[in-house]
Amino acid sequence: MTYKGKFRVWRGDAEGGGLEDYEVDVNEGEVVLDVIHRLQATQTPDLAVRWNCKAGKCGSCSAEINGMPKLMCMCRMNTFEEGETVTVTPMRTFPVIRDLVTDVSFNYQKAREIPAFTPPADLKPGEYRMQQVDVERSQEFRKCIECFLCQDTCHVIRDHEENKESFSGPRFLMRIAELDMHPLDAADRQHEAQDQHGLGFCNITKCCTEVCPEHIKITDNALIPMKERVADRKYDPIVWLGNKIRRR
Ligand code: SF4
Ligand code: F3S
Ligand code: FES
Repeated sequence: MTYKGKFRVWRGDAEGGGLEDYEVDVNEGEVVLDVIHRLQATQTPDLAVRWNCKAGKCGSCSAEINGMPKLMCMCRMNTFEEGETVTVTPMRTFPVIRDLVTDVSFNYQKAREIPAFTPPADLKPGEYRMQQVDVERSQEFRKCIECFLCQDTCHVIRDHEENKESFSGPRFLMRIAELDMHPLDAADRQHEAQDQHGLGFCNITKCCTEVCPEHIKITDNALIPMKERVADRKYDPIVWLGNKIRRR
């Protein structure tokens, strides 16, 4: 069954742009990315769109569909009414390069600022031992496909360019939390999260968790536990005393 779908797509570049209306064939079983590809093949050969796997695994086709951050390849057309206009816009938090393609280098910069896994100095490769439960705890975070939809939706940076310098966003705070949970990581991740990556900006709205296509419980399993550990360290008198004694 084929019908004429109504699409409204943002066209433009860093200088500016706007929404343009199109009518495109939609076939049964298709996803938004299929229709965008048909639009590109039949009416707008210069439409810029980033994609790769078409299977929800490369994290390239992130955009906003009717205002919601989503992967275009995982958004089924049958979730819309036939006469409904489907609006596709680029991720708002990152600068537009052209049409649906944004410059996500903010994320790579933040990734580079996080020191890698730091085992204790006296442990040699091959001597690492850890409990299965600790392996499993961080497994969830490893499902991240770096689509940056969580980064796109987080209000701390979505409408506040000025916060980008001090706030790394849910994806990277989750990475720090993952390292902090690692029993063999010897770096001071709590200060790092709070002082350099802006954990305190997060007021646990959970919007990041809501849009994650991998259904990672970013807020409940990474950010809140990290906040609790930071608070324990700062305000629990016993933890405070322990830290003082250890530092001597
Ligand atoms: Fe995408 Fe989820 Fe990873 Fe965020 S945590 S980048 S939403 S997969
Ligand atoms: Fe932002 Fe997620 Fe916290 S959306 S405010 S990082 S819970
Ligand atoms: Fe790879 Fe959509 S094309 S996640």
